[in-house]
Amino acid sequence: MDLSIIIPTFNEKDNVTTISNRIIQAMEKTGSNYEILFVDDSKDETPQILDELSKKFSQIKYIHRTNGRGLGTAVVEGFDKSRGTYIIVMDADLQHPPELLPLILQRLQEGSDLIIPSRFVEGGSDGGLNAFRKLVSWTARMIGRVSIKRMRNITDCTGGFFGLNRNVLINADLDPIGWKILMEVLVKGNYKTVHEIPYSFVSRDAGESKMSGKEQLNYLRHILKLVCSSEEDRKFYIFCLIGLSGVLVNLAMLFILVDILHLGHLRSSIIASFTAMLSNFILNDTLTWKMKKDGASSLIPKFSKFVVVSSVGIIITALFAQFASWLKISIVFGQMIGIVAATLWNFKINNIWTWSN
Ligand code: GDD
Ligand code: MN
Repeated sequence: MDLSIIIPTFNEKDNVTTISNRIIQAMEKTGSNYEILFVDDSKDETPQILDELSKKFSQIKYIHRTNGRGLGTAVVEGFDKSRGTYIIVMDADLQHPPELLPLILQRLQEGSDLIIPSRFVEGGSDGGLNAFRKLVSWTARMIGRVSIKRMRNITDCTGGFFGLNRNVLINADLDPIGWKILMEVLVKGNYKTVHEIPYSFVSRDAGESKMSGKEQLNYLRHILKLVCSSEEDRKFYIFCLIGLSGVLVNLAMLFILVDILHLGHLRSSIIASFTAMLSNFILNDTLTWKMKKDGASSLIPKFSKFVVVSSVGIIITALFAQFASWLKISIVFGQMIGIVAATLWNFKINNIWTWSN
């Protein structure tokens, strides 16, 4: 079997026949051996129609579930019960054009691990959502792309239309909350090449969208869960939190030295900064890069590297502050941008150099 087309359905009685016909027509010219697997949670007459379709066309199959467990788990069940070398997931309501299937299959056969039709690359369009949904969808995508590294370069990481080589799923422990199964695949899948191709997301003719506020909340929960399960993202956030804790340590130390021990201001400030650096180092060594432990003997060289990296970070921040004052914009703003840039620098270099082995 070359290809399995997985289609989750919930109350799509007016769409399943049309989409089946259009898929069959589109796939005819490819001459490939494929199956269409509907994973249905409907409470309307959809399962009866699917039953008739499956009797009429040998390539159509369906699973009807009665305990209504939602879109994400429906797709995972489709992955498990299908047999194709390649898999394409799409919606039933014709918002995802079946005419694109041959091209997706071709690109997968040419060796791409993941093919994502995108509304947001050149040539694509997003006609299928109203202005409000577009704004919500844009915000959701930005949150996803900022939070999760593996989604950063994907313009349409929240869509329900994508193709993959079945090997991508090997050892991927998929456990989606809600709808965004593509994000699960992007974070947990085992792939090297991802490509996006343009498509036009058209508006729904029949039936209605099942998107809801609850689903949008699920999306945020899902992002949080993915961040926690993805080692590279989790490390970055722990690093940032430790950085923030360093500010508190710094200020607390300053208070002790100046107000309690009555030391000079300059001396207190420098000691406070060094204490914060030391505390950041220890926390990063025990938490952020805890997997990279290799005995106490390496602590001194590691700390030296950490100091070098942090010092360059201070220079980077200073450059931004200086730049801001040259441009006559607020130095606080310059310093803030500088801190963000320095944090990215510090994390990256500490990750590949200080805690490299
Ligand atoms: N099995 C099953 N169970 N299928 C479901 C369920 C469910 O609980 N809920 C929805 N579906 C099916 C619908 O029948 C449809 O085929 C597909 O999932 C998408 O649902 P829509 O209700 O059409 O969602 P949408 O158009 O608002 O949003 C879709 O398109 C967006 C843009 O690509 C979704 O795919 C979004 O995730 C996507 O961002
Ligand atoms: Mn839809």
